[in-house]
Amino acid sequence: MEENRKLYVFGASGHGKAVTELVLNTNCKIEALIDDAPKSDNLGYIPIVNATGIVKPAPDVALIIAIGNNLTRKNISLRFSDYNFFSSIHQTAFVSPSATVGFGSVIMLRAIINADAKIGNHVIINTAAIIEHECCIDDFVHISPNVTLSGNVSIGLGSHLGAGVIVIPGIKIGKWCTVGAGTVVINDIPDRATVVGNPGKIIKYNNLVETAAKNEKILKKNKVIKINSGNLKFKTY
Ligand SMILES: CC(C)(COP(=O)(O)OP(=O)(O)OC[C@H]1O[C@@H](n2cnc3c(N)ncnc32)[C@H](O)[C@@H]1OP(=O)(O)O)[C@@H](O)C(=O)NCCC(=O)NCCS
Repeated sequence: MEENRKLYVFGASGHGKAVTELVLNTNCKIEALIDDAPKSDNLGYIPIVNATGIVKPAPDVALIIAIGNNLTRKNISLRFSDYNFFSSIHQTAFVSPSATVGFGSVIMLRAIINADAKIGNHVIINTAAIIEHECCIDDFVHISPNVTLSGNVSIGLGSHLGAGVIVIPGIKIGKWCTVGAGTVVINDIPDRATVVGNPGKIIKYNNLVETAAKNEKILKKNKVIKINSGNLKFKTY
């Protein structure tokens, strides 16, 4: 995360607006919002352009994908793999010096990432979520507002935890799972399961089809943020 960096934000819907405000909070300059089907020409003073207009990356401009749906975000990251991806951490968030944050990820207002937690690439840690010590969050996960992950929880690729989910310590949640709003998770969850309720129970499985991942090129040129080795400034509250 570098201040005054120029970037595009992909996605002009609700999450796009929240990410735009997050990025402006870090003093970066947004050149434009990009959308596949823009509904207006601008968001305040920031132009909104059709995605077909910007297929070639400018060397000094990075991209942040502000799409809440995990599979869509993954597919867009593959489509725009020539870009450098950008991560952004709100100044009111707390990220432990021993935690790491991957590229393309956003840590929203008042989120807490505690000691030794690992946040992957293109992850959303939404408003006021708590990620306790040693949690491991894989790529393309979305942790919704007010989620509480106790220590040592792991979340697999592409999973979505709805608002207010609570997970007890040491639980493993698989890939492409959905955990309904308000669920209390007390057992491990297998891949692709949807779990709701207190205590959380499986109600169904999904058959989401992933595009073949060709992530090597993206991984090579984007770097994980080591919070304690950069010059980031974080405020607690
Ligand atoms: C879990 C969820 C994805 C299920 O959505 P769905 O696949 O459309 O499922 P349905 O609405 O058909 O619900 C299926 C059953 O689960 C129940 N259910 C759904 N969500 C539930 C929840 N969060 N807690 C408890 N029960 C729930 C429904 O009442 C229904 O029960 P029934 O079969 O006895 O009538 C959705 O309800 C949810 O909680 N999404 C999280 C949204 C969120 O927090 N977003 C944050 C964005 S920042």
